[in-house]
Amino acid sequence: MENLIDIRGVRHAYRTEDGPLPVLDGLDITVNEGGFVAVVGPSGCGKSTLTRLIAGLMIPDAGEVRVHGTPITGPRSNVGMAFQNPVLLEWRTILKNVLLPLEIVKTPLSRAKQEARARRLLSLVGLEGFEDKRPSELSGGMRQRASLCRALIHQPEVLILDEPFGALDAFTREDLWQTMHALKEKEPFTGVLITHDLRESIFLADRVVVLSGRPARTQYVLDLPQAGPRDLDHLYTAEAADMLAELRHQIEIAQGRAGTDTPEAAQ
Ligand SMILES: Nc1ncnc2c1ncn2[C@@H]1O[C@H](COP(=O)(O)OP(=O)(O)O)[C@@H](O)[C@H]1O
Ligand SMILES: [Mg+2]
Repeated sequence: MENLIDIRGVRHAYRTEDGPLPVLDGLDITVNEGGFVAVVGPSGCGKSTLTRLIAGLMIPDAGEVRVHGTPITGPRSNVGMAFQNPVLLEWRTILKNVLLPLEIVKTPLSRAKQEARARRLLSLVGLEGFEDKRPSELSGGMRQRASLCRALIHQPEVLILDEPFGALDAFTREDLWQTMHALKEKEPFTGVLITHDLRESIFLADRVVVLSGRPARTQYVLDLPQAGPRDLDHLYTAEAADMLAELRHQIEIAQGRAGTDTPEAAQ
């Protein structure tokens, strides 16, 4: 499979009043076309910074971020993004919120086709019948479903998810994991998922990248034997337990705590 995204030797420091703050220090990540990579690492290590580099909102101090082999030099419109806070506009209906990116990104679709596409996406995530509601009339999980539709409305090549399920309760989160699989099957994209949840990473992704603490390096890469729709029961198999144990161990190493008894390090 072709590499869609190639991140090589990326270094970056923010300029602050107290001088440069090194955030990324030797990041190497590749994302296959159609693949789904999860990135896990301690809070503040530079995961959101990484998403800005992939979206072209920032250019790294050193190293390269290539898409289809071409270095990124500025913001790209064929990226969809969703965040922990869905930031929907309250004065717009759910349907109009989903359509918003098409007012910014050029599309060959007619108005009627745009709306049909938005309705199709909303029904794929289980929001049929909620098109004309306002964001405040929906639960947190439903708002996040709508924000996923908005991120996909312009058929982006890359979907970047920055801890999108972090604020949801466990049951809602698992529902959304299954929705993600269904969405990816019907609306293929290349995914980059930032998460704190190791179960989420192995349920959704086909590759998990563990970052070290700040400044972040690529600490460890786990390629999963299979990608695609998986039963939640899969998370309770011996195979999944082994993967989770290895990831937890790598996070402990990243935090310089390997060998100590810190089961909460996974969080
Ligand atoms: N625009 C900015 N200017 C200065 N420092 C920043 C900026 N954005 C993020 N940082 C700092 O860079 C570090 C990494 O931030 P971030 O990429 O958001 O980490 P993460 O998403 O892994 O929690 C943090 O210490 C954060 O405070
Ligand atoms: Mg972040």
